[in-house]
Amino acid sequence: MSASTLNAEILKKDFPLLGRTVRGGKKLVYLDSGATSQKPTMVLDAERNFYEYHNAAAHRGAHQLAEEATEAFEGAREVVAHFIGAHTREVIFTKSATESLNLVAYSLSAAESPIQWRPGDEVLVTEMEHHANLIPWQEMAKRTGARLRFIPVTDDGQLDLTQIDTLINEKTRILSFTHASNVLGTVNPVRRLADLAHAVGAIVVLDACQSVPHESVDVTALGIDLMAFSGHKMLGPTGVGVLWGRFEILESMPPFLTGGSMIEVVTLESATYSLPPKRFEAGVPNMAQAVGLAAAIGYLQEVGMHAIAHHEEDLVTSAIAQLETMPGVKVLGPAGPRGGALSFLVDDIHPHDVGQVLDDDGIAVRVGHHCAWPLMRRFGVAATTRATFYLYNTHEDVSSLVSGIRRAQQFFGTTS
Ligand code: ALA
Repeated sequence: MSASTLNAEILKKDFPLLGRTVRGGKKLVYLDSGATSQKPTMVLDAERNFYEYHNAAAHRGAHQLAEEATEAFEGAREVVAHFIGAHTREVIFTKSATESLNLVAYSLSAAESPIQWRPGDEVLVTEMEHHANLIPWQEMAKRTGARLRFIPVTDDGQLDLTQIDTLINEKTRILSFTHASNVLGTVNPVRRLADLAHAVGAIVVLDACQSVPHESVDVTALGIDLMAFSGHKMLGPTGVGVLWGRFEILESMPPFLTGGSMIEVVTLESATYSLPPKRFEAGVPNMAQAVGLAAAIGYLQEVGMHAIAHHEEDLVTSAIAQLETMPGVKVLGPAGPRGGALSFLVDDIHPHDVGQVLDDDGIAVRVGHHCAWPLMRRFGVAATTRATFYLYNTHEDVSSLVSGIRRAQQFFGTTS
């Protein structure tokens, strides 16, 4: 396969679930990868192989299986590190991106936090965050007394940076924002924001849930300090997420969860903690899931991240062009360049009804607030219908979406 193209029809055959039918024999058109992606056989096999041949508790035990489990788990860490341009000691396995972000928010507000919180300190997020990158900071603000501030969103779904020099100021201790919006598809100017935040000494956290699965991401080039993403949105299993952090920052952070494996010395009264990443991986780790994630990364690399990004851009551009010609259909978010999340509204039909008509045709989309309720309020809507694309989607899937929306309009009598 060439570096810039992929054949989604062929790739689809690697995903057993995509071959099934739904709703009484309808061909499945899966347009909900932003919520969770499907898994290729290679990932399913990798997890099964781990349990069948190598299962034991990593980092414990002197027997051969324990050694093999440790090698498999640490090998997965190497794969993840290489994928994002990081060092292995900077890659922490968590159970999810949500846990990764909570880890950061709790650790940086603990008594031993490297941030010495002062009255008037600020934490800056954006109006387009999904709940996983909002609520942990709300809770942190309660613990620290910090003021939570927000970068607003423009009508066309971009970050409004007109007041950024005021929003990022000497009181800003943390800036946390999404790389790509899970609702609007907006891709944010990471390097520019990171540089502004660093100029005032703030720590920069990136929510990369909707970028790492879809494009080549290099943590050094982005100029950030910490980054979270999840395995299940990038062809990997559920139950595994990643927190990447610059080692100097991780080394200065106290643990979030405590227990076995993350310690140096324990007495009845106290404990000292290992260096990262082990400091942040208490308990028997999610070995099979990490191995599955490594297999998913292998698959993505085989296809090529540039080819995947190019393919998704092609699909979303075509979908937007078609939706914009449909009377009564409004696409939210920027015209481009943008990620693969496509939210839209259909006049006089509630998104849940649109979703139901699409589902009747076997087309799986997400409807609702997409775990980004404040962003819905910003646009004055309760919900949207959202299609999200991935490497296994085809132009035929886009056509099915367009026809499905037309059928919804006919069904509800909102078009002739
Ligand atoms: N954040 C995920 C989504 O956008 C759950 O669907």
